[in-house]
Amino acid sequence: MFITFEGIEGSGKSSALAQLATYLEKKSFDVRLTREPGGSALGRTLRHVLLDARNTSLSSRAELFLFLADRAQHIKDIILPALEEGEIVLCDRYMDSTFVYQGAGRGMDIDRLRLLNEHAIGGMIPDLTLLFDVPVQVGLARAARRNEEEGTVISEGRFEAESIRFHTRVREGYLQLAAEEPERIVIIDATQNPDDVLLQCISAIEKKLHDYGRL
Ligand code: TYD
Repeated sequence: MFITFEGIEGSGKSSALAQLATYLEKKSFDVRLTREPGGSALGRTLRHVLLDARNTSLSSRAELFLFLADRAQHIKDIILPALEEGEIVLCDRYMDSTFVYQGAGRGMDIDRLRLLNEHAIGGMIPDLTLLFDVPVQVGLARAARRNEEEGTVISEGRFEAESIRFHTRVREGYLQLAAEEPERIVIIDATQNPDDVLLQCISAIEKKLHDYGRL
């Protein structure tokens, strides 16, 4: 089963993802934790280019194709082999990030993005997507605090440096995708405390495992 995690910066998806991996492993599932960009060896090289705030001249189109290249290689090297082994793949960001960051955020045409993404993924649609929803101000404040603590301001801060308006479009884009695909995309209220956020995720994942006859 292929589960993706989406949300604006500072929505808390990455820490929930790690806790969910532990929870599922305790239930004897084999779990593969991965992320985009940067899940494969090629992807780790691309991640440096994509997130480095010093790369101010990267064009939106070049950026798009680097994300898609990262995804295509990630599927081949990591996601597909893990699914073939029966593992539950938990992936931090995937195709919906492209639709909202490059689409809603950068203003690229969504139908064209869907076509190009389809070419990159070859049918590898997630079984379930958890959308961590928080108001933009809350998310960006959390992300800024984390960057300060981890000292990642320049080398990984290219998207955090975007404006509040950019992130507002991204959040709205996510909510629109969730409205279009309620079966796949489950909205998690990420303003709640971490325990309650985790419970919402567990409930959505267990429902899907049940539907797939794995629980
Ligand atoms: P990352 O440090 O992984 O962010 P976070 O901790 O918020 O998940 O950075 C990934 C950034 O790349 C994030 O700002 C969203 C952006 N992104 C896109 O613009 N398009 C994409 O297709 C993907 C996968 C990510």
